[in-house]
Amino acid sequence: MSVSPTRFVGLGLAVSALALSLVACGSDEPSSTGGSSAGGQKIALLLPESKTTRYESLDRPLFTEALKAACADCELIYSNADQDAAKQQQQAEAALTQGAKVLVLDPVDGKAAAAVVASAKGQNVPVIAYDRFIEGANYYVSFENEAVGKLQAQTLVDTLKAAGKTSGNLAMINGSPTDPNAADFKKGAHSVLDSSGFKVAAEFDTPDWSPDKAQAWMEGQLSAIKAGLVGVYAANDGTAGGAIAALKGGGVKPLPPVTGQDSELAAIQRIVSGDQAMTIYKAVKPQAEAAAKGAVALATGGKPESTTDKSGVPSTILDPVAVTKANINDTVVKDGIYKVSDICTASFAAACAAAGLK
Ligand code: GAL
Repeated sequence: MSVSPTRFVGLGLAVSALALSLVACGSDEPSSTGGSSAGGQKIALLLPESKTTRYESLDRPLFTEALKAACADCELIYSNADQDAAKQQQQAEAALTQGAKVLVLDPVDGKAAAAVVASAKGQNVPVIAYDRFIEGANYYVSFENEAVGKLQAQTLVDTLKAAGKTSGNLAMINGSPTDPNAADFKKGAHSVLDSSGFKVAAEFDTPDWSPDKAQAWMEGQLSAIKAGLVGVYAANDGTAGGAIAALKGGGVKPLPPVTGQDSELAAIQRIVSGDQAMTIYKAVKPQAEAAAKGAVALATGGKPESTTDKSGVPSTILDPVAVTKANINDTVVKDGIYKVSDICTASFAAACAAAGLK
């Protein structure tokens, strides 16, 4: 189990300026509604997996930076559950044992996480549901998840129609059955696809969001649906990568449009080269900042700032954005997530030039 006070090494992206530890002698006041200094308190960030790149490359460093800004002398306890709900429960218990004053939890299994909330509450430790909803949490920060599914599906339909197609088979690769967001993405996507004129010929809920399981499923479907296949709805970039590998391996030419989510670097490069039709950009920075400020507020007896509520949990819900070749510059490049030079490596140079990325 890897619960340990974080050392901020090699995380890249905007964290290079951070000190080696958040435990510092500074006396900065927290910039939250907490009011007073959180006085060296421990905050735990518990993330669900690392096959999806956002967690280690964005959420973790951005939360780390935001926590330091909100509370210079707070200490971060960090763990990643590697898609294992039981492991995450142990990590949460370990964080409580280490004296965490707030748990910021992105649950592998939204329902199982209720036990973590109960255990934390028993010790007067508030829980922030980070990105994925948990019943009974003290605060929830996420994106408009049904809108994610609608944007993915609408972009897929628009792409097909722009290519002159009005009917044909779609394959749908959804997210993990234990992730409450996956159900919202799926619902939003179905609300568009079911009345689009295209037919969802095969559908799969990908255990653990595993790209390899998405790939294996797509490979297994090819003989049955390859002939009339016009598009693939994949719920995130990891599963999109798996689907695209299966389509290429199965000799499907030309590749049908494939959706995604998370604006992973590999997905942005696939969009530039034409292998993937779209992804979703979620600005993780404001999400991480809201969670860090909320954690400091709760650690000092205050309340997180919220704009709405979900099932009685005060919430901050952010807007997702669809990314295609046309707006890479105006989204992930503009926000400094990637430099054009990160995207346009040698093998993508020609495609980048054609897409006007410079
Ligand atoms: C979702 C999250 C997505 C994606 C996925 C796989 O809950 O909202 O951004 O990362 O999990 O981990």
